[in-house]
Amino acid sequence: MIILAVESSCDETSVAVTESRRVLSNVVATQIAEHKLYGGVVPEIASRRHTEAISGVTRRALDEAGVSYGEIDAVAVTFAPGLIGALLVGVNFAKGLCASLGVPLIPVHHLRSHIAANYIDSDLKPPFLCLTVSGGNTIITEVNDYTSFNPLGGTVDDAAGECFDKAARALGLPYPGGVNLDKIAGEPDEKLYPLPVPHTEGRYDFSFSGLKTATVNLIHNCEQRGEEVKVPVLAATLRHHVCKILTEKTVAAAKEYNHNTVALAGGVSANSELREMLKAACEQNGIRLYMPRLCYCGDNAAMVGVQGYYEYLSGNTSPLDLNAAATMPINYR
Ligand code: KG4
Repeated sequence: MIILAVESSCDETSVAVTESRRVLSNVVATQIAEHKLYGGVVPEIASRRHTEAISGVTRRALDEAGVSYGEIDAVAVTFAPGLIGALLVGVNFAKGLCASLGVPLIPVHHLRSHIAANYIDSDLKPPFLCLTVSGGNTIITEVNDYTSFNPLGGTVDDAAGECFDKAARALGLPYPGGVNLDKIAGEPDEKLYPLPVPHTEGRYDFSFSGLKTATVNLIHNCEQRGEEVKVPVLAATLRHHVCKILTEKTVAAAKEYNHNTVALAGGVSANSELREMLKAACEQNGIRLYMPRLCYCGDNAAMVGVQGYYEYLSGNTSPLDLNAAATMPINYR
């Protein structure tokens, strides 16, 4: 079954051609250069750039896969959650394709597709436990089946990626902050830069808003006192602190819920320390860990196509009145 997949939930316009778990092409047009000017994603600009890019990106994805429009069996599209204007571009484009080609439309939840990035080039099968960390979400969920999820906890305020991004901006690092903070991080020093340990009611919930504010305040206080901020040290201290919270909760959840397979997903799964720390913790506890290849960590349509395949098998197609949604729980059905 050949799926044309479309992703436009944030600042990457991506179209892929997939066949079950196989990726035939995956084209990503990033808007980073433009949003960099503003230090973050400007939603209105994102929508406009998606509109301009989407037809050309689709043409390239088909050419690279060597597939014609007539060979497409279904169109999968990210419909939620994300920036509403950005999502609408992909959803309407996908609906137009389905109407003209006469093929089914498969709505795909963004976080489900991030998890599905782990199926590409791997033998991973549910059930397993997954930590999904991105710019807008941080959740630990049981993946009972390809389209059945049981969230155990999530962030009560900001996502880990948001915390990295805003701390990076206060440190004077360019957008996208999380990536650049990871690149310049040196050795952590928790005595020099003590950071608070967030408290949450739920054992597997997260809170990164206070940590984000504490880091930004620490930087401003240093500046006000005329002290130099050691950027690589503070970046490493924050990174270590966040990775420790993410790792400890994930391993504790795996043990409590008897999962010997864990997966990592979302944009922050590209973080070098998170990958190493989680790998070491899983090894110590006899847990098998899956992580997406770096090219599938950030937003891309290949993962949408792969999850779309499983949604299709579960009968989750949609009539052409599908709408996009800015928020949507992962277990919406
Ligand atoms: O999944 P994603 O591409 O988009 C969302 O759906 O949010 O995640 C983007 C987030 C941003 O916060 C970005 O700074 C973060 O992932 N990120 C990283 C790294 N690469 C991307 N954070 C830390 N270290 C990285 N290497």
